[in-house]
Amino acid sequence: MQTFSEMLSKPTIFKERNVLFPDYIPDVLPFRQAEIERIMRWVSPALKDEKPHNILIYGKTGTGKTACVKVVKKKFDEMNSGAILAYVNCRIYNSRYRVLQKIIKDYLPELDKAGFGVLFMYEGLMAWVQKKAINLVLVLDEVDMVKDLDELIYSLTRSNDELKSGSIALIGISNKLTFKEGLDPRSKSTLYENEMVFPPYNAEQLQSILKQRADMGFGEGKVSEPAINLASGIAAHETGDARYALRLLLKAGEIADEKGLLYITDKEIDLARKTVELDVAAETINTLPQHQQIVLYGIAAISLEGSRYSKLAPQDEEGTFILSGEGYEAYSKACRQFGRKKRSARWFREYLHDLEMLGLVTMIESGKGMRGHSRLIKIAYAPAQVKALVEKNLIAR
Ligand SMILES: Nc1ncnc2c1ncn2[C@@H]1O[C@H](COP(=O)(O)OP(=O)(O)OP(=O)(O)O)[C@@H](O)[C@H]1O
Ligand SMILES: [Mg+2]
Repeated sequence: MQTFSEMLSKPTIFKERNVLFPDYIPDVLPFRQAEIERIMRWVSPALKDEKPHNILIYGKTGTGKTACVKVVKKKFDEMNSGAILAYVNCRIYNSRYRVLQKIIKDYLPELDKAGFGVLFMYEGLMAWVQKKAINLVLVLDEVDMVKDLDELIYSLTRSNDELKSGSIALIGISNKLTFKEGLDPRSKSTLYENEMVFPPYNAEQLQSILKQRADMGFGEGKVSEPAINLASGIAAHETGDARYALRLLLKAGEIADEKGLLYITDKEIDLARKTVELDVAAETINTLPQHQQIVLYGIAAISLEGSRYSKLAPQDEEGTFILSGEGYEAYSKACRQFGRKKRSARWFREYLHDLEMLGLVTMIESGKGMRGHSRLIKIAYAPAQVKALVEKNLIAR
């Protein structure tokens, strides 16, 4: 067994791993200078004792919304004015109560006692803003997660009519493009005084974002150009999501470390993509009903053994197609193995259909030369890992 010291002294391709983590924010955000400046201009009235307009920022996931606002916050804080730009992540603080509690905790700790109601916190906050004449800009990131958003927006914006000095302005951020439809018309017009859309990144933009981070995270020349291009291409094809692109790069680094490599090539990116995809697929698999999981297990098992009809069934480098009949046999065997009562072939076909809809298997009709009308099935993810995952789920039950 290895000791900690041995593990720690093992060579690694990472120079600075944390720059590849999703919460790391580089000092310079390429392709977002205009957005950053625009947000700065919007919030700047707070620095000269005026109330900024409210803003809603939206755009797809991984387009840099959170990163830009955090860059603005840093610059804002550096001004050392009496104004405050407070950041709240509503994925965690997902109700009016929790948002207020979070602000109290960060800025008015003397009022932070458990059991105080919304009204008490709200009044405490107002008294503070007014007494110190604070221009507060409140960033509500992932604002669509707030359950009672209309109430939150209403109480915070109405407060401006009551305040004799100081002000409260809101910056909402969301990646749900349709969430405004669910809002009360009054909240909608309040929050949408200004709006701003972050476009997705294209492949070239992702390339330079990745290049910047690869140089910082691994050192220059450690990630091949085809590797950067592949990762950017995959992420651009997804939704132009920089977070996904960075996740591929981080994973590729971990794979390189496991293999003791000194460079990352497109091969590691490709493996990383499969692992990352499998992580996502695992979330789907884990929530499948039992028999669908057993069907998937059977297909994974037989894919590993190889089809008996491999001469008939087409193969590609990604794996084997198996015949539908073999699949049913494998499913029956798996039912015995897990001590579950097997269902009929008709049900099996239903389950297969569900799995296909979820993208966990692909199916094609058999070509000529095969008896009757058979379907060929191929598992979409690494069979060994799928098998292990289902095994764990079924044994846990
Ligand atoms: N222009 C950029 N340059 C460098 N890194 C970037 C850029 N845009 C985004 N990133 C990086 O991509 C990741 C995702 O960005 P961010 O968290 O800002 O996305 P988001 O738009 O807030 O997504 P979501 O809607 O899912 O919250 C972060 O690690 C961020 O550092
Ligand atoms: Mg975000």
